[in-house]
Amino acid sequence: MTDFLIAPSILSADFARLGDDTQRVLDAGADVVHFDVMDNHYVPNLTFGPMICSALRKYGIDAPIDVHLMVEPVDELAQRFADAGASWISFHPEASRHVDRTIQLIKDAGCKAGLVLNPATPLSYLDYTIEQVDHILLMSVNPGFGGQSFIPATLEKCRQVRQRITQSGRDIRLEIDGGVKVDNIRAIAEAGADTFVAGSAIFNQPDYAAVIDSMRSELAS
Ligand code: DX5
Ligand code: ZN
Repeated sequence: MTDFLIAPSILSADFARLGDDTQRVLDAGADVVHFDVMDNHYVPNLTFGPMICSALRKYGIDAPIDVHLMVEPVDELAQRFADAGASWISFHPEASRHVDRTIQLIKDAGCKAGLVLNPATPLSYLDYTIEQVDHILLMSVNPGFGGQSFIPATLEKCRQVRQRITQSGRDIRLEIDGGVKVDNIRAIAEAGADTFVAGSAIFNQPDYAAVIDSMRSELAS
């Protein structure tokens, strides 16, 4: 049976109470903390950096922290996030001048390395990297903001990425990011995703556990 992971995006958490809100969502049954880093350059929005990541570690967050770098350039920040306690680090390949070097840098720093594909990014970015990556983060919205609607064409793309992973014979997580809700998570899993980022669907509800439980029942059905 697939080992599904729920990764709430703390982009939609209460920033004024970030430690508490992150712990709350983990206590509600989340597996991974999705940490969206935006630099107002690669994407038109600005969030948080490595100091906030290490602050969460100091606060006692011990779940895997999945850093999604929407930044350009990538390498220096990737290293700083590894030092700040990140577990997984993914980046957009078109934002790195030397994609293979960035992947190696992340792995040498002791983290799992992932590539992020935007809705219109071709799968050819996987041609010479699939042997190196630990996860692939497939964007189902354009990066930069929480609360957008899932782009339906992503389902077919998700199937294609799953096929590429199967062909590679490697153990690579397929993570989907953007517009994931209780009512579409099952279709997304059927298309091959095994890790689900959800921001607004969880944090905009008062009872996080109820949403996460409903997502898990959809996945089990
Ligand atoms: C968008 C981010 C997503 C976003 C998901 O750039 O990468 O992680 O926070 O938010 P929802 O689940 O609200 O679409
Ligand atoms: Zn993200």
